[in-house]
Amino acid sequence: MSDKAYLKIDDLEVSFPVETGTEGDRAIDIKTLRSSTGGIVTIDPGYKNTASTRSKITYLNGEAGILRYRGYPIEELADQSSFLEVAYLLIFGELPDKATFEKFVADIKDKSFVNEEMKNIIDGFPRSAHPMGILSSMTSALTAFYPVNFDFNDKEELYKIIVRLLGKFPILGAWAMRKRNGWPLTYADSSLSYTGNLLKMMFEKPMEPYKVNEISAKALDKLLILHADHEQNCSTSTVRLIGSSHAGIFAAISGGVSALWGPLHGGANQAVLEMLEQIRQDGGDVQKYINKAKDKSDPFRLMGFGHRVYKNFDPRARIIKKYADEVLADLGVEDPLLDIAKELEQAALNDEYFKARKLYPNVDFYSGIIYRALGIPVEMFTVMFAIGRLPGWIAQWKEMRENNEPIGRPRQLYIGPRERHYVPIDKR
Ligand code: CMC
Repeated sequence: MSDKAYLKIDDLEVSFPVETGTEGDRAIDIKTLRSSTGGIVTIDPGYKNTASTRSKITYLNGEAGILRYRGYPIEELADQSSFLEVAYLLIFGELPDKATFEKFVADIKDKSFVNEEMKNIIDGFPRSAHPMGILSSMTSALTAFYPVNFDFNDKEELYKIIVRLLGKFPILGAWAMRKRNGWPLTYADSSLSYTGNLLKMMFEKPMEPYKVNEISAKALDKLLILHADHEQNCSTSTVRLIGSSHAGIFAAISGGVSALWGPLHGGANQAVLEMLEQIRQDGGDVQKYINKAKDKSDPFRLMGFGHRVYKNFDPRARIIKKYADEVLADLGVEDPLLDIAKELEQAALNDEYFKARKLYPNVDFYSGIIYRALGIPVEMFTVMFAIGRLPGWIAQWKEMRENNEPIGRPRQLYIGPRERHYVPIDKR
């Protein structure tokens, strides 16, 4: 196999090195393209053919349906690990030993409170505010309370900021929901697990003690593992891009939350549930919605279907589908939306349109069914995704800074008007 790629343009022939990743993927390194061709650039909307970085964090093979964090298959991690252990693995590169892990968990608990003055900021939001908007703003607001310009090369400081973020972020997520409900903003409970505490912070009412349901806490932990990283997706690329200007980590993560919010990305989990509910209220005719999704004059898309990278089953969807059956049975919940989802999936998988375009269920297709079984309101689904994705964002931001990557600044091909001259308003 050639280790060089050649480009012929006009009278010029230039060559570029071809690099091979550890899993055999190949990339043409076009770093010298502009300098060797007199300023020619590539154009690739949506970056469908562009590797923006070299990364050691997550391996994803969309054709084979493979997802691994730091080399470990997602199936093994979902089955045997815990969310915080996976967070450590993603951020620091290796599974921790027992003492390191216990310290990591204790340090996160130690930072699981938010400055009281942050409550004034939440107070300013109307109750109708979407929790993702609140989460993004509050994450950015953390910059006002904690030092931004720490020395990145100071390992101790870096560690502190990481555990601080892991401790505070779920509190902000839970507060966003409590604000919407008009409930008092509560404090974390260090005696509980990460997800047990999150559930308590979301659902505890002032007049009665809250008992964590261990099935729910375990289910949520597994869902967070499945969402923890997904290489260079829209929100992660946003985090890396913001971080590349050396803006602080809270600003970068806040940008990631905003990018995740969109219905083509993490917001799809809310959109799936709303779609399933609409199908139910409309009499449960799934074929009608399959036809709508295929109709190019109709903007409707089958939410939770299709993926930029997976052209096969999303391995996360496989795990979540199986898990949805188990969790609903364990919790004794019967949900007609699960039956509609299964019917819709079968209809799509047998349909020529979806087969030809290799559109399969993605992570968001079944996750909402589990969130719903846990009693989590639909507008909080994407917040759950964000809490799960936080370790991935941190790991990717850290890797970008450790590699001293240059500021992200794409080029463009200008297709606007050529030079023209200003005409005063009364002469136009
Ligand atoms: N329903 C109907 N048609 C679809 C769908 C869908 N969900 N997804 C893709 N297509 C069609 C699309 O119209 C296009 O058809 P044609 O070739 O005839 O023009 C073809 O399939 C290729 O789609 P694309 O839009 O070019 O693919 P993309 O890689 O730009 O978009 C996507 C990927 C995820 C944005 C898209 O599949 C989509 O909008 N899905 C629904 C939203 C969703 O579930 N998003 C969650 C993604 S997974 C979680 C995450 O990473 O955030």
